[in-house]
Amino acid sequence: MKIAVTSVSGKLGSAIAKQMVKEIGKDHVLGITRTPEKANHLGVEIRQGDYNSREDFDQALQGVDAVLLVSGMDEPQKRIRQHRNVIDAAKQNGVKKIVYTSIVGDEENTAFSPIVKSNRQTEKDIQVSGLDWAIGRNGIYIEPDLEYIDNYVKDGEIRNCAADGRCAYTSRSELGDAYTQMLLGDKHTGQIYNLVGGAITQAELAGIIQ
Ligand SMILES: NC(=O)c1ccc[n+]([C@@H]2O[C@H](COP(=O)([O-])OP(=O)(O)OC[C@H]3O[C@@H](n4cnc5c(N)ncnc54)[C@H](OP(=O)(O)O)[C@@H]3O)[C@@H](O)[C@H]2O)c1
Repeated sequence: MKIAVTSVSGKLGSAIAKQMVKEIGKDHVLGITRTPEKANHLGVEIRQGDYNSREDFDQALQGVDAVLLVSGMDEPQKRIRQHRNVIDAAKQNGVKKIVYTSIVGDEENTAFSPIVKSNRQTEKDIQVSGLDWAIGRNGIYIEPDLEYIDNYVKDGEIRNCAADGRCAYTSRSELGDAYTQMLLGDKHTGQIYNLVGGAITQAELAGIIQ
C-alpha cells in the first residue's frame, strides 16, 4: 500500500504525513511537494508536485493507492484548476481513493466565502470523479492564532471573531489524526466531516491561554 500526501512541505501536510508514518510505517507513505528540499527531513520518499502541473502529478501518483489532497494557497478561482490537476491525474493513473482537506463555512457573506465557494467546487469535482473519496471541512487552525499573540499585543487588538462571535478552532495535529483515519478506514468513504472543536469567543480563548 502507498499513500501520498500533497503539499507535504507545509505544516498541515507534514502533520498528516507524520501521523501516517506512525500508523503504517514510512515505506507506505509518500510525500508530494512543489519544493522537495523542504520535505526531505520527513524521511519518506518525496516526489515533485506543483499543483499547476498536471504532468508533475501524472508522475508523482504512479503506484499510489490513495492520495490526500491538501487545498492550495493560490487565489480561490485558481485553486479549482490546480486541484483538478491532482484529481484528473489520480483518475488517469490508477489511484483508488482521494481525501480532500476542505474548509467549514458559508459560501456567502463572510471574509472566507470566496475560499469556501472554491473549495465546495473541488468537493463536487471529487464526488463525481469516480474515485472513492472522503472530505474533511477544517475549522480555523489554532496554531497561527497563538503564534500571532505578540502581534496582537503590539496592535492592541485582535481582528477575529468579534464580541460574541465564536471560532470553532482545531489544531493541525488533530487534523493529522483525523485525516489518517479517513485515509485508512473504508468506513469513511463517501463521508464529509466538519473537523472542528467546540466554538469559543476570543475572550474565552484569552482565558484558556493565560
Ligand atoms: N483552516 C485554517 O485556519 C487555514 C489557515 C491557513 C491555511 N489553510 C489552508 O490549509 C492549507 C495548508 O495549510 P498549512 O498550514 O499547511 O500552510 P503552509 O504551512 O503555509 O503550507 C502551504 C503548503 O502549500 C504548498 N503550496 C502552495 N502552492 C502550491 C502549489 N502551486 N503546488 C503545490 N504546493 C503548493 C506549499 O508548498 P511550498 O513548500 O513549495 O511553498 C506548502 O507545502 C493551505 O494551503 C490553505 O488552503 C487553512
